Amino acid sequence: MRIKVITSNEGKMREYSQALGELGIEVFHGKVPYDEIQADTLEEVVERGMEELREKEGSFIIDDSGLFIDRFYGFPGVYSSYALKTLGNEGVLRLMAGEERRSARFECCIGCKIPGREPFMISGECRGAITKEARGERGFGFDPIFSADGERTFAELDLEEKNSLSHRGRAIAMLAERLAEEMGP
Ligand code: IMP
Repeated sequence: MRIKVITSNEGKMREYSQALGELGIEVFHGKVPYDEIQADTLEEVVERGMEELREKEGSFIIDDSGLFIDRFYGFPGVYSSYALKTLGNEGVLRLMAGEERRSARFECCIGCKIPGREPFMISGECRGAITKEARGERGFGFDPIFSADGERTFAELDLEEKNSLSHRGRAIAMLAERLAEEMGP
């Protein structure tokens, strides 16, 4: 099976290639622009994206993700991309300076369409904490300031390790099961 991952994010693309490739699903990169609306949930963003793309594309995956910090009642959440552009990781660390309560979670919502089937969504979550300083050179986005195991940040893990713990890795594992069911024996 071959499926197009529609994203402008090379980091996400690498994670899909590693995780799905390992399960025998070949992925290729599609840079088809679609409207990422500002909404209250990741699911709404993905649903609207799928509505727009389902007419144009055969099989595809889209992904909307965010970092939810408990101390800030879930902010930046659906505003993650804006927060990364404006505050950056150093800005988030400054906002968290002196905070003992550092728990946070990443969420990933995947939208998937395969020919002859209704589009569906799958979500994955990973709980962890905002570190006190940025560490690591790998990954992308907020990876240098988030740790799932309390030791290493996502940016200190290799692709396989991040996928084995992360919100996206979990969602991809569920996606692979669903695809196996949908495609039959
Ligand atoms: P998007 O809207 O799904 O592309 O992501 C929103 C923001 O969260 C972007 O700035 C991404 O860089 C960031 N982000 C999404 N997934 C991850 C991740 O797995 N690790 C770190 N940052 C992420």
